[in-house]
Amino acid sequence: MKTTISHIKADIGSLPGHSSVYEPVVQEVGKFIKEHGNGILTDHFISHVGDDIQITMIHNRGVDNSEIHELAWDAFIAGTAVAKKVGLYGAGQDLLKDSFSGNIKGMGPGVAEMEINARKSEPFIIYMMDKTEPGAFNFPIFKMFADPYNTPGLVIDPNMHDGFKFEIWDIIEGKKIYLDTPDHMYDIMGMIGSKSRYVIKRVFTKKNHEKLPDENVSVITTDKLSFIAGEYVGKDDPAGIVRIQSGLPASGESLEAFSHPYLVSGWMRGSFNGPLMPVGMKNANMTRFDGPPRVVALGFVLKDGKLTGPMDMFDDPAFDGARKTAVDVVDYLRRMGPFEPHRLPEDEMEYTSLPKVLERLKSQFQHIDMEPAKKKLKVSTKDFD
Ligand code: 13P
Ligand code: 13P
Ligand code: MG
Ligand code: MG
Ligand code: MG
Repeated sequence: MKTTISHIKADIGSLPGHSSVYEPVVQEVGKFIKEHGNGILTDHFISHVGDDIQITMIHNRGVDNSEIHELAWDAFIAGTAVAKKVGLYGAGQDLLKDSFSGNIKGMGPGVAEMEINARKSEPFIIYMMDKTEPGAFNFPIFKMFADPYNTPGLVIDPNMHDGFKFEIWDIIEGKKIYLDTPDHMYDIMGMIGSKSRYVIKRVFTKKNHEKLPDENVSVITTDKLSFIAGEYVGKDDPAGIVRIQSGLPASGESLEAFSHPYLVSGWMRGSFNGPLMPVGMKNANMTRFDGPPRVVALGFVLKDGKLTGPMDMFDDPAFDGARKTAVDVVDYLRRMGPFEPHRLPEDEMEYTSLPKVLERLKSQFQHIDMEPAKKKLKVSTKDFD
C-alpha cells in the first residue's frame, strides 16, 4: 500500500510581531489533529519555524484528499481562536478564505504532499523556511539533485548517475514543465535562476532507477499568498520534503546545499533580499529586521505509517560557519537601508508606498527632452566582434 506524507503549514498569529509561534496555540493545533485525526492519520508531527506552524501528517489517502486538508484547516481555525484570545499579532494571518471548500490549496496555507512506495527504511528531511518565498528552494534543491560538487553521489553512486526529473512551475502564467538532469541542466538553470517566477515543485527519480523507479522524491510548497489575496498579507514562507539515501542524496548531501547562506527574497515586509541562515530549532525565532530568513531541517524515518524522530539537523556546530557568514551578510546589507539590491526591485516588493507618492507628486514632474525607454527590450544575443 502506498503512503502519503502531507505537510501543511500556516501562520495563524505571532508573538509579538512576526517573530515566533506561541506555544499554547501550537498545542491547540496539536490537540485538534490528535483528536480528529484518529482513524484518518497513521501518525503526525507538529513543529514550527518563526511564526509558521507546520503539520506533518502520514496517511494512506493520497494527495489532495479533502478530509486531510479539512483536518489541517480546522486545526488552524482552532489554533486561531486561541491566538485571537490572547491578542497575537496577525491571528489567522494565512487563513485567507472564510470556509473550507474541499481543497486547502488556494486558501492560504502552504501544502507539500507526496504519495510514495515507502522503502524498508524511509528516511526523509522536512525543510521549513520563514521570511522567504517558494523560489528560495530552487537553489538548494537543484544543488542536492543536480550538482555533483554538492552531491558526489551523482557521480559515484550508480543509482544516481542517470540524474533526476524536475517538475518546474511558472507561477506567473500557471504552467508546468518536466525536464531531466543532467541533459537539460542548463535549460533548468535558465528558468529557476528567476526564482520569483519559476519554482521547482517536485523532483522524481527516472524510470530506470534500480531501487526506486519513477518516484516522487521531493516536493515543495508553491502557494503564493498575494496571488490569492490580491495584496500583501505576509510572506509565503515555504516548506519542502526531501527523501534521502539509497539512490537519493545522502542526508549530508541534502543538508550540504544549505552550507552557503545564499540570498533569498522576503525578510522585512517581504520586500528585502537577505541570506538564508540554517539554524537548529532553538534558534528558529525571527528577530533581526524580522529575520534574517531562516531554514530548519527535521530528519525522520518512516515505517509502517509511523514516524521516528525528528532529529534537529542544523543543530550542529558544523553549520556555525554558514551562520557566521549569514550574520556578516546581514551587517553588510542592512547598511544599504531602502536601496536595491538589499531592497527588492519595485515590481517584486510586497509593500510599497511609491504609487501614492508618485500620484501626489504628479503635477510637479517636468518634461525632459529625451528618447523614452522602450518598455520591453528585444532579447539580445549579440556578439561584439
Ligand atoms: P554508512 O556506511 O554509515 O551507512 O554511510 C553511508 C553513506 O551513504 C554516508 O553518506
Ligand atoms: P510572515 O510572512 O512571516 O508573517 O512575515 C511578514 C512580514 O511582513 C515580516 O516583516
Ligand atoms: Mg506573520
Ligand atoms: Mg512566517
Ligand atoms: Mg508568512
